[in-house]
Amino acid sequence: MSELFKTIVDKSPLGVLIYDKTLGEVVYTNQTLRDWGIFETPFVENLLNLQNGELEYKGHFFKVQTFEEEGKRVFLLEDITPLKTYQRAKKDFVANVSHELKTPISVIASVAETLFYEEEDPVKRRFLERILKRSKEMEALVQDLLILAALESKEGKVIWEEVDLHRLVEEVFQNLKEVAEGKKVSLLNMVPENTLCTCDEHKLFILLKNLVENAIKYNREGGKVWVKTYTKGGYRVIEVSDTGIGIPKKHLPLIFERFYRVDKSRSREIRGTGLGLSIVKHIALIHGGKVDVESEEGKGSSFKVYIPLRGEKTFRGK
Ligand SMILES: Nc1ncnc2c1ncn2[C@@H]1O[C@H](COP(=O)(O)OP(=O)(O)O)[C@@H](O)[C@H]1O
Ligand SMILES: [Mg+2]
Repeated sequence: MSELFKTIVDKSPLGVLIYDKTLGEVVYTNQTLRDWGIFETPFVENLLNLQNGELEYKGHFFKVQTFEEEGKRVFLLEDITPLKTYQRAKKDFVANVSHELKTPISVIASVAETLFYEEEDPVKRRFLERILKRSKEMEALVQDLLILAALESKEGKVIWEEVDLHRLVEEVFQNLKEVAEGKKVSLLNMVPENTLCTCDEHKLFILLKNLVENAIKYNREGGKVWVKTYTKGGYRVIEVSDTGIGIPKKHLPLIFERFYRVDKSRSREIRGTGLGLSIVKHIALIHGGKVDVESEEGKGSSFKVYIPLRGEKTFRGK
């Protein structure tokens, strides 16, 4: 390498490390990487075990790109510690604020509820009803923000257990019974009894509750919601389908984003936080799975959740 190129690489904001595969040792590091003060055996071992991706080492965060040339592995490292620190501060802030809002909002909601049921004056009742409705919405928002914060923290770890899917779907239906009755939507559990899935029961409950709730909310009166399951390519697939209003194609890639809600007019009459599907996606991802959606406007939607099979017997005792 010419002196000029050496100087340029030394002054680059990227850390550079070159590992010679035949010699089995590091043959080059640039100044930037050495200045980080982490160039030591365990760091190199971590790096060699990583393909492209992110690496955390002694409080530093790096984005790592690697490629091979002339029998050498070249690593380019970007120090993303400031970005990570900022993201963490942002998450902590949202989590703290949500936590602080939780109690006062519940108090407002429950006091408004009591007053509403005791009030006879129609004008006051209307005002109280508005306070009640709005505070319930805030409660739901804070609840969703707290769920997301928990998923992103240590509590977000998956606690694996064998879960009976039929029973879990039954519980979700039970939980949403009144919402469904209010809209005259019928709920069908097509998951065979004793179907086992290795997953985090509490998190899968939250996931299914969000999907079934959407399937009811964005349905037509007298519509249907059904849940079925099957295995495919190493995954347990859980499908939540509805006969609802559907989602226009151009919105499909966006609905899993935080706070995204499909067009204002229909969202105004059907309340929501826009956080449900980002919770669903997050839960699927931490299980090593994913979510897919198919939808036809005016006909209905179908959400498929993929959870990797972990060698469970499909049926208990069979
Ligand atoms: N089953 C469904 N049928 C039609 N639209 C849906 C369905 N599920 C989600 N959507 C659309 O995706 C948006 C995002 O969903 P979600 O994240 O759960 O937020 P929210 O339900 O609070 O609006 C919803 O506002 C709705 O427009
Ligand atoms: Mg929702």
